[in-house]
Amino acid sequence: MGNGGALKKKPGKIAVIGLGYVGLPLAVALAEHFPTVGYDIDKERIKTLNAGHDWTNEVTDKDLKKSPLKFSAVKDILKGADVFIITTPTPIGTNHQPDLGPVLSACKSIARYLSKGAVVILESTVYPGVTEMKCGPELESGTSLRCGEDFFLGYSPERTNPGDKIHTIHKITKVIAGQTEAVTDLMEVIYGAITHGNVFRAKNIKAAEASKVIENAQRDLNIAFINEAAIIFNQAGFSIYDVLDAAKTKWNFLDFKPGLVGGHCIGIDPYYLAHFAEEVGFEADLILTARRTNDAMAGFIAGDISKKLKHGSRVLILGLTFKEDVPDLRNSRAVDLIWALKERGLNVDVYDPIADPEEVHREYGIRLVDSLTIKNAADRYDAVVGTVSHRAFRKLKAKELEGLLKKDGLVGDIKGIWRGLEFSKGIRRWCL
Ligand SMILES: NC(=O)c1ccc[n+]([C@@H]2O[C@H](COP(=O)([O-])OP(=O)(O)OC[C@H]3O[C@@H](n4cnc5c(N)ncnc54)[C@H](O)[C@@H]3O)[C@@H](O)[C@H]2O)c1
Repeated sequence: MGNGGALKKKPGKIAVIGLGYVGLPLAVALAEHFPTVGYDIDKERIKTLNAGHDWTNEVTDKDLKKSPLKFSAVKDILKGADVFIITTPTPIGTNHQPDLGPVLSACKSIARYLSKGAVVILESTVYPGVTEMKCGPELESGTSLRCGEDFFLGYSPERTNPGDKIHTIHKITKVIAGQTEAVTDLMEVIYGAITHGNVFRAKNIKAAEASKVIENAQRDLNIAFINEAAIIFNQAGFSIYDVLDAAKTKWNFLDFKPGLVGGHCIGIDPYYLAHFAEEVGFEADLILTARRTNDAMAGFIAGDISKKLKHGSRVLILGLTFKEDVPDLRNSRAVDLIWALKERGLNVDVYDPIADPEEVHREYGIRLVDSLTIKNAADRYDAVVGTVSHRAFRKLKAKELEGLLKKDGLVGDIKGIWRGLEFSKGIRRWCL
């Protein structure tokens, strides 16, 4: 393996491949310091970005319009780049197995644009070994250059959190690891320019890859424990939220909240770790049990709420996106709840002011109701169930919720956001 001595000290042109929740903010941040381009296979995404709008709401229209970043769905935009950063999705396929298709297809696209001294950095969440054992060979197969001699690899996990305006790309500590010290030095120059937080040099690429999957698997496990506790206390007739209020006064109690665990990170990445465990001959029981516990929450909630409603009752679900205040619908577990309620003979409507109605219909076949205004008393619901704590829902007053309900209606509060509200006599409550 070469020593990477041929590497430049600074990037000449950076290309970001995959301009989604992670790639776009990264590319915009990089473009403030280095010549940067973005490539995405989704022509519609490129069209709206070129029109100055980011549908993920991670970059404001103002920041996007003033950014020197150039984007295209034509691969030739990659020409002349000496640093390639891959931020394509890492979903799971059948049997919860990692689907590396988008990462490997990004490698395929990059390969013919590699030149001597180029560096390919993977940011997508993967299990240990993917960068060197999967991406390296895939890149080599599309070029005459040799990995580790002519071009080099690096890994830097993405830590930003959709909708989180505090732990942004400019403030978080960025973990980096290169195939050689010179690659890590170059990565330090690149990432050091965009974050005021630290740049942490992980021991090697595998350690950096593993750090990301355990961060997310740890969250999943902690939430699973709280979900299990929520079910136990619910069956005993009291609320986990009252328990948490007391428990979190202890200095070292970990304050996780119960609920539906969706999205494409916390609900997916543990499967990458479990797959890696399998590769090394170990069955990751704890990790998979936590996944099952969290995936079972929708069924438990539907079962318990439906016991309080007559067959054919009308239920309004508030919130469909996978988490509060983001439009991201991927792997939404609120959808599981809707199907589970329907299976139990209930009629379900859904309202989400943040989700894109067309996308909801395309992805899930659900037509969202378009407002919370009820014109006729006959249209009132038997139950309103809050699944996601969007700002608009946190702000709802008791009167507004009651206005949606029949006189003996039920307020279902999965996220505990309406615990402080006083309702009129007759209104029933269900809380985790
Ligand atoms: N969203 C997050 O908060 C977050 C946080 C940390 C890590 N991650 C990880 O980052 C990676 C990307 O996640 P995301 O949320 O940005 O995904 P995303 O779906 O929002 O964006 C991915 C983009 O890549 C594009 N794409 C897919 N295949 C491509 C290809 N072959 N060539 C070019 N473009 C391609 C898609 O069109 C899409 O625009 C995943 O591995 C994810 O687990 C995401």
